[in-house]
Amino acid sequence: MINNEAYLLYSVLCYEGGHCRRTQHILKVYALARLLGEQEKISTEEQQILQAAAILHDIAIKYCKDNYDGDASQERQKKEMPHLVNSFLQAANYLPSYIPRILELAEKHHDYDAPKDRTLQILMEADLIINCYENHPGSEKIKYIKDIFQTSFGKELLDFCIEGIKEQEGFL
Ligand SMILES: [Fe+2]
Repeated sequence: MINNEAYLLYSVLCYEGGHCRRTQHILKVYALARLLGEQEKISTEEQQILQAAAILHDIAIKYCKDNYDGDASQERQKKEMPHLVNSFLQAANYLPSYIPRILELAEKHHDYDAPKDRTLQILMEADLIINCYENHPGSEKIKYIKDIFQTSFGKELLDFCIEGIKEQEGFL
């Protein structure tokens, strides 16, 4: 029998139905959040919460696109996230006491300027690094992104990513 997290990941991948970009994004952010959490030595409970939040952090995009004429704005995603996060976590048999925290992380993962705890910081850094690999931001955007980073391992991995972009695009 697979564990809660494996079931959660499986059910989210099924929900995405093979959508290329979103499926790959989920898998990459999940892997990197897991690694960053382990590097930062967060508690076992926070690590489980972080990994579930990484799997679910963009869960509302498909729902919003399907139900709001392709509009998946941040506001709409935040509105739809609670029922989606709740139903996926319940189906995967997560402890009810974990659910509000996982939802909070998923809801706030783009609130870069708001106060944040270490677990949210890690989720943000994982998502930002993967977004950089996927979108190749320009030098102004990179400066903005760099300022958000706090963990030393996240900073190191972001620097590798920037080097990679530089090599490919030759513009920095
Ligand atoms: Fe994301």
